Amino acid sequence: MLFGRKKAPAGPIEIPEGLVNLHCHILFGVDDGARTEEQMVDLIKKEYSFGVRHLCFTPHYNPALFEPRPSQIAASFDIAKKFVSENLPDMSLYLGNEVFMRPDTVDRLRDGSCKPLGSSSAVLTEFHPSTSWDDIRMYAVKLLGQGYTPLFAHIERYDHLNDIQDIYELRGLGVKFQINTAAFETSRRKLIIKLIEQGVIDCVADDRHNSTRGDPPLSESYAFIEEKFGRAAAEALFIRRPRAILGV
Ligand SMILES: [Fe+2]
Repeated sequence: MLFGRKKAPAGPIEIPEGLVNLHCHILFGVDDGARTEEQMVDLIKKEYSFGVRHLCFTPHYNPALFEPRPSQIAASFDIAKKFVSENLPDMSLYLGNEVFMRPDTVDRLRDGSCKPLGSSSAVLTEFHPSTSWDDIRMYAVKLLGQGYTPLFAHIERYDHLNDIQDIYELRGLGVKFQINTAAFETSRRKLIIKLIEQGVIDCVADDRHNSTRGDPPLSESYAFIEEKFGRAAAEALFIRRPRAILGV
């Protein structure tokens, strides 16, 4: 679907409830995100106040830096679920990883060391910023060949993913694309705008780590995108497409 540029709406933009955040490090004690239960609870409440009702925790899986044990992740997730069911019952939580691509990553997905988002086949896929185009494509093909759907994380960050034809090629193979809410503040702003206009971006997330590190809130980004591209684009990027990725 193509989204053109739209005139500014007449009145203030209303942020709908039901936004989806597929990329954050709010689950406590498992990576460089929230450190304590209190920090996690505070961040969950903030996401709720931004209109987020579907929140997927995506702890880093990068054995060179972070390799949280699945049992450790499960224990923190149980605490998060208990808090949400008692205090924010209309919010749904999901679990996955932000998976840093290495030669053995598909094996690690298959043996359960890291996992796709929720009960979907979508893998939040991270590369080193300088990963070559050939390797990016090779990893995408490898994941797809094993039945996973690569959802490339913050695609505004990769040095060798700035040729629009390459991005279309990946799209044609079945790759999906996530941008961070701060993507419009980067040097790739023009490319990101073009990709949104062409309907190539699937979702926007805040990649929240803690109260001081993270991109702008989803509500701010929603308002910006609705103003620039129209309501249909905002609803697609913050609600409809990420829900389809999760399968909920
Ligand atoms: Fe992240």
